Amino acid sequence: MPFDTLKPKVTTILSNSSETVTERLSEICELLQSSIGYYDWVGFYFANESERTLHLTAFAGDPTDHTVIPFGKGICGQVAESNKNFVVADVSSQNNYIACSIYVKAEIVIPLFKNGKNIGQIDIDSHISDPFSIEDERFLEWVNQQVAEIL
Ligand code: SME
Repeated sequence: MPFDTLKPKVTTILSNSSETVTERLSEICELLQSSIGYYDWVGFYFANESERTLHLTAFAGDPTDHTVIPFGKGICGQVAESNKNFVVADVSSQNNYIACSIYVKAEIVIPLFKNGKNIGQIDIDSHISDPFSIEDERFLEWVNQQVAEIL
């Protein structure tokens, strides 16, 4: 499903104020994971600044053991410190990587900014090698901007 078709669906989910933020984030994860063939796992992590840890808040796909990730560890923990998108075409090329599943071949992590501060991220795993393009980055940046509006 093209990203432009998904955008109004994302907006509709996020604007449903009868649901909690976590419920809405879970629905965003389900929407993206079920709509985009190479998005096999989709999750949102949010930072605990004083503990310097990331906490899994919502996800779609197989459950992961990695619900708490220290800043600096893995792709997610590196993005917590770099404030930059991290697109990994081949996870086996990374030495600072936390494996969630043997099937994962690629990963993209996009930081989520609220008032200019990196407060969390969207993390997507793919079972396909090198599937992510600049279009994914732009779309996921847009999703995170929309999420920031309801936080
Ligand atoms: N692979 C991530 C850990 C989170 S799982 O993908 C759900 C990382 O290296 O930070």
